[in-house]
Amino acid sequence: MDRLCLYAKNIMKKINQKYFKKVLGKFATGVTVISINNKEKFIGKTVNSFSALSLSPPLVLFSLDRKASAIIKFKNCEYLSINILNKKQINISKNFAEKKAPWNKKDVSYYFSKYKTPIIKNCLANLECKKIKFLTEGDHIIFICKVINFTYNDNLKPLLYFNSKYI
Ligand SMILES: Cc1cc2nc3c(=O)[nH]c(=O)nc-3n(C[C@H](O)[C@H](O)[C@H](O)COP(=O)(O)O)c2cc1C
Repeated sequence: MDRLCLYAKNIMKKINQKYFKKVLGKFATGVTVISINNKEKFIGKTVNSFSALSLSPPLVLFSLDRKASAIIKFKNCEYLSINILNKKQINISKNFAEKKAPWNKKDVSYYFSKYKTPIIKNCLANLECKKIKFLTEGDHIIFICKVINFTYNDNLKPLLYFNSKYI
């Protein structure tokens, strides 16, 4: 059956979550790791909901599942770093999609920003941010952040995520 008909039918009832996830996966994104320093414990989370929000002031946003294990630490943090991964950093993306992901793996090399958040090396770009607001909406929390510093590399290719797969 034509998928479109199936969706239209389901929308009249309850949106089928499986297909809803599938349709969202049709939007290709880059992949980031958002990192925080929680009392000298470093936390990283793989996130593809990152988006630009405003040029002036320089604002970005991302959203995290309300049930994510480190959600309270993200709600409480003051600063965070957004590390935009390059094509060769799939292992880093996989690592930080795990619970209590370790920072001492050989693929993960990093240094500290001015505000002590871990910055992953060899990324396409790193943005050092101050979290200014979070909003709970549905089953996710949207974090709005002001960019304080950034660095980028013009010579790397992006890691892309599409249809629930790395491409
Ligand atoms: C490519 C990719 C993108 C992801 N993007 C997000 C995202 O934007 N928001 C989110 O809450 N989780 C995202 N996740 C899932 C998290 O990385 C993580 O697995 C999830 O929050 C569960 O973490 P926990 O086991 O610590 O609770 C993504 C995972 C992958 C592999």
